[in-house]
Amino acid sequence: MSLIDLVKGATFDDFLFRPQLGIVPSRDPGAIDLSARFTQRITLQRPIVSANMDTITRAAMAVVLAEEGGIGIVDRGFRAGDVAPQVAEVLAVKRTQHGVIMDPHAIGEDATIADAQRLMRQTGVGTLAVVDPPGRLKGLLTERDVRFVPHGVSVRERMTPRERLIVHTGLTSLANAEALMAAHKVKKLPLVHEDGTVIGLVTAKDLLKHRRHPFATRDERGRLRVGAAVGATGDYLERAAEVLKAGADVLVIDIAHGHSMVMARAVEAIRARFGDVDLIAGNVATGDGARFLLERGVNAIKIGIGPGGGCTTRLTTNFGVPQVEALVETKLAVGDQVPLIADGGIRRHGGIAEALLFGGDTVMLGSAFAGTRETPGDIVMKPVLMPDSQKVVQVPFKVFRGMASLAAVKDRLDLEEAEAHEVEALGAEGLEVSVPARGSVRTVIHDMLKHLCSSISYGGAASLHELRAHFMADPERFLIRLSTASRHESFTR
Ligand code: XMP
Repeated sequence: MSLIDLVKGATFDDFLFRPQLGIVPSRDPGAIDLSARFTQRITLQRPIVSANMDTITRAAMAVVLAEEGGIGIVDRGFRAGDVAPQVAEVLAVKRTQHGVIMDPHAIGEDATIADAQRLMRQTGVGTLAVVDPPGRLKGLLTERDVRFVPHGVSVRERMTPRERLIVHTGLTSLANAEALMAAHKVKKLPLVHEDGTVIGLVTAKDLLKHRRHPFATRDERGRLRVGAAVGATGDYLERAAEVLKAGADVLVIDIAHGHSMVMARAVEAIRARFGDVDLIAGNVATGDGARFLLERGVNAIKIGIGPGGGCTTRLTTNFGVPQVEALVETKLAVGDQVPLIADGGIRRHGGIAEALLFGGDTVMLGSAFAGTRETPGDIVMKPVLMPDSQKVVQVPFKVFRGMASLAAVKDRLDLEEAEAHEVEALGAEGLEVSVPARGSVRTVIHDMLKHLCSSISYGGAASLHELRAHFMADPERFLIRLSTASRHESFTR
């Protein structure tokens, strides 16, 4: 039977994979190749993407995703026309230093220590370049220099002056910077132009971070990569212009129904205005939909209509495709011409391996990250009745909501003042739920990667690529379609 016939009408919980002869000596994610194409241009070392949802991805989430080898997509769930907040999130990721700090925050010599402290607080930066009016380096001022110092003292009096600094003229590689810093036993290396104006700054802390995250997703300047979502109507062109200016590495045109004329017009307009920007579009769930986007020249396609944890599209419209069928159908339609992002419906770690075998090059996760420390939103304490002790205890929760939920739509459209029935007329296709607050998403990602490596071991392969190739060459060797009883035995705990 062909693969598409094997998966008709099916989704994640319909299958197990038959174990094969294991060949990897260890299941260590540090030793197994998990790299995957995210777009036609960007390869990730880890095939994990955080969803562009306003309760999932802002800068804190995107930073961890990129450090861990995946990527985060900052959502567009800010007020229509209000582009600045999304730009700030993108900038925050691009400024998270892992390499050369280009254009470091600077202050004048005559400014006061109070001014310096304020700037450090506002920017979250611990080292300021001290410059004269034309921007030439005069010294460095660190947090330590301003601690316990009367506010009126001038920066000049507390800075380490340029004569006492090791300064490099021109740009340099991180390896060279590290060698220079080690030779001179310094923790900071400013880079300047011939005329003395500041180019950038390398700090020992950033070099260490660079080492600590060997799989991180970085741009050519060593900065973490991040994506930004835009819509297909309204402010999308202005939003795209601003997030790209802020350094977004990839644009995601994200609408519920990506196989549509609205999308075709948006892709065309974005290409006309921004040329060959790295562009992802979605969502679609059919071969026709995927080909439609491929023909319009997008660099990756997001797959999934209605499988998402916060999503009620299928309930309210009765349209959608079971996610495994959607992945296989779209993969067969476009082959390796364009990478696919399997978006939504992954509720257990085993689902990641499935999504990646059935056609996803990477997976996009929303609810799997809900409640983690890096998600936006406040923690709310709620009383919960403990079943064993019958005691009521206060448990911390965070909100997770579909981007088409009433609450998210209301926030985005600034409709607090609107009548409830007017908002409902917009046609909500998402849920809002409270989920228990938990620790860092970093731990969640590490667990996922360990489990993915175990899947590779069970599948008799030595890398993700190899497992995929084995599976596609002979899917029947792997696929076990589950009965109700075997599904219960497998996934109910
Ligand atoms: P998971 O299952 O990982 O899915 O939480 C995340 C994906 O769900 C989609 N999404 C929605 N789909 N109505 C929808 O039909 C919504 O309100 C909604 N919010 C998110 C989206 O593709 C996301 O990446």
